[in-house]
Amino acid sequence: MKKFSLIVAVCENGGIGYKGDLPWKLKQELKYFSRTTKKLNNPTKRNAIIMGRKTYFGVPETKRPLPERLNIVLTRDPSSNIYPNDVVVCKSLQEALNKLEDIPLVDEIENVWIVGGTAVYKEAMQSTRCHRIYLTEIQTAFECDAFFPEITNDFKLVENDADIPQDVQEENGIKYRYKIYEKVSN
Ligand SMILES: NC(=O)c1ccc[n+]([C@@H]2O[C@H](COP(=O)([O-])OP(=O)(O)OC[C@H]3O[C@@H](n4cnc5c(N)ncnc54)[C@H](OP(=O)(O)O)[C@@H]3O)[C@@H](O)[C@H]2O)c1
Repeated sequence: MKKFSLIVAVCENGGIGYKGDLPWKLKQELKYFSRTTKKLNNPTKRNAIIMGRKTYFGVPETKRPLPERLNIVLTRDPSSNIYPNDVVVCKSLQEALNKLEDIPLVDEIENVWIVGGTAVYKEAMQSTRCHRIYLTEIQTAFECDAFFPEITNDFKLVENDADIPQDVQEENGIKYRYKIYEKVSN
C-alpha cells in the first residue's frame, strides 16, 4: 500500500486559510508547493494530490485542476456535476486511497500528496500510511479561519531533502522556513 505525505504552509498562530483563500501572498512558497508536489523519479508517471472541496475551489478557476497532477477532491456530495472530467471525486479519504491502489492508477501514480484543508490533514496525520509533513513555518501571524491540526509527538523533525533550503526565506518582508516532519511509529 502506498504511503502519502502532507504539504502545508502554517503561520505563527497556526492558521492556514482565510475566507477560502490563503491569508498571505508568497509567490516563491507557492512555487515550492508546485515543484514539490510535481517532483518525480520516473518522468512517465505523475503524482496525485488529495484535497477537500474548499481547498479545490480556493484555487483560482483558471488554475484548477492543478496541472501535471491527478486532482482528487473529497466531498460528501460526489454526484455533483461541478467538477471537470479529469478530476477524481471521492466521498472519503479512504475511498480516494483505495482508488489509487486500483489499476491503472496504481501504476500511473508515483507519489500521493495530501494538500488540505483542516479535516483532511487531521485524518491523514492519524493514518499509519502517513509518511511525512512538508511544513512551511511562516514567522508572522495572520487573521485566519482555517487552522492546521496539532502535530502529535509521533512526528519528529528530520533533515530537509537536499534540494530544500534549510535557511530562513523572505518574501514581502515575511520570513519563513521549510521543515520536514516524519512519522516515527511507521
Ligand atoms: N496554507 C496551506 O497550506 C493550505 C492548504 C490547503 C488549504 N488551505 C486553505 O484552507 C481553507 C480550506 O480548508 P478547510 O479546512 O476550510 O476546507 P477543506 O478541507 O478544503 O474542504 C472542506 C470540505 O471538504 C469535504 N471534505 C473534507 N473532508 C472530507 C472527508 N473526509 N470526506 C469527504 N469529504 C470531505 C467536505 O465537502 P462537502 O461540504 O462538499 O461535503 C468539506 O465541507 C482555504 O482557506 C484554503 O485556502 C491552506
